[in-house]
Amino acid sequence: MRLTVIGTGYLGATHAACMAELGHEVVGVDVDAGKVAALAAGRVPFHEPGLAGMVARHTASGRLRFTTSYEEAGAFGQVHFVCVGTPQRRDSDAADLTYVEEAFAGIARQTRKGALLVGKSTVPVGTAARLADTHDVEIAWNPEFLREGYAVEDTLRPDRLVFGVRTGRAERLLRQVYGTVLAGGTPLVVTDFATAELVKTAANSFLATKISFINAMAELCEAAGGDVRELSEALGHDDRIGRSFLRAGVGFGGGCLPKDIRAFAYRAAELGVDLGFLRAVDAINMRRRDRVIELARQLCGDGLLGARVAVLGAAFKPDSDDVRDSPALNVAARLGLAGADVTVYDPEAMDNARKEYPLLGYAMSVEEALRGADLVLHLTEWPQFRELDPGRAASLVHRPLIVDGRGVLDADRWTAAGWRFRALGSPAPVGPVGEDGRG
Ligand code: UGA
Repeated sequence: MRLTVIGTGYLGATHAACMAELGHEVVGVDVDAGKVAALAAGRVPFHEPGLAGMVARHTASGRLRFTTSYEEAGAFGQVHFVCVGTPQRRDSDAADLTYVEEAFAGIARQTRKGALLVGKSTVPVGTAARLADTHDVEIAWNPEFLREGYAVEDTLRPDRLVFGVRTGRAERLLRQVYGTVLAGGTPLVVTDFATAELVKTAANSFLATKISFINAMAELCEAAGGDVRELSEALGHDDRIGRSFLRAGVGFGGGCLPKDIRAFAYRAAELGVDLGFLRAVDAINMRRRDRVIELARQLCGDGLLGARVAVLGAAFKPDSDDVRDSPALNVAARLGLAGADVTVYDPEAMDNARKEYPLLGYAMSVEEALRGADLVLHLTEWPQFRELDPGRAASLVHRPLIVDGRGVLDADRWTAAGWRFRALGSPAPVGPVGEDGRG
């Protein structure tokens, strides 16, 4: 089939490349001429494992093209996917729908007769119906559940597909688009617009709630002398609870979960439904960042002013260079404001971090970040941080003090190598060494 994908960010670029991989002819559309030029030349302007090779292959074969022209896209496509962003508005918790509205208006003006416009962006419930009433074109809603870092895999082999449709024809066209995926056994839910929109925000809200639940348990473990890692493991053995998204730490960030739960609660309130528990989810999440700073203060007994702090991690999660609402950078910046001399290292997100926080210090390697540090904060769980040799790391720093903000480092190994080790949700180690790490 001939498809277009409007918006070529993480979601759109991945969707476009994966649709080409599934055998479709695809045109990607973006208003950003620089992004279009890079993608057209087979280059992906962000880090997403497996995507660069796929884009290069399909642009070279001509099956995947990119343009800034809605006119060209409209003349080409039978089905148009809208994959633009819906950031949080500056003046409230609501989603900013400017880009969605512009994309639908732009393509609706140019479409061929019988074309289908499919929304994939995360939107407040009611948006699809409003767009369908505004534009004289057929519309469907097909929410996206891909995770950054696994975007290609999640698109080619999703755990479910959801089609929000008003006609059998729209459903048939979408079944044709995803024929290969459906033939592979992916479950499909065909539903109305409102439910399709709600599935996405409900899913992200549930995931955020799970993370904040375990982080609240981490607070309780700290107060009661329990260990949240063991608690989480024991909870996860119950199939009804499950193991995933029960990793306690510095909390969730990124371009989706934080803004989606806020927009969801905001939209629910507009509809007269109180989702106040999501405010608690949000508050628990933000408190975890405060707790890392509190532990940093405790460990640097003589204050943060002038303390050299190495922050390991800048991306909001590993396998990504995305720093939007990154807990790691939020903590780093706040320590900087408190007078600490902060040096950040991340394997992929350095350029984006520098753009967001130009005043922080940056190191070219983990060794360089550690050298001379009074305190180490582990805030994004990249594999190379997990694999660090605690003995070698101890030989580089000034004082062997570390906070594991992601709950994945082996406390025994680090302690055995002479480190004073603190993790969120674990009791403070007993022993002769005081909170300031100097005994
Ligand atoms: C999230 C959802 O997982 C996707 O299903 C959804 O499609 C996407 O948002 C979206 O709306 O586009 P993503 O933002 O890529 O995907 O990241 P996640 O893997 O969900 O992680 C979110 C945050 O939660 C990260 O900061 C991660 O470090 C944190 N997290 C995750 C925890 O703190 N603990 C956990 O146990 C799991």
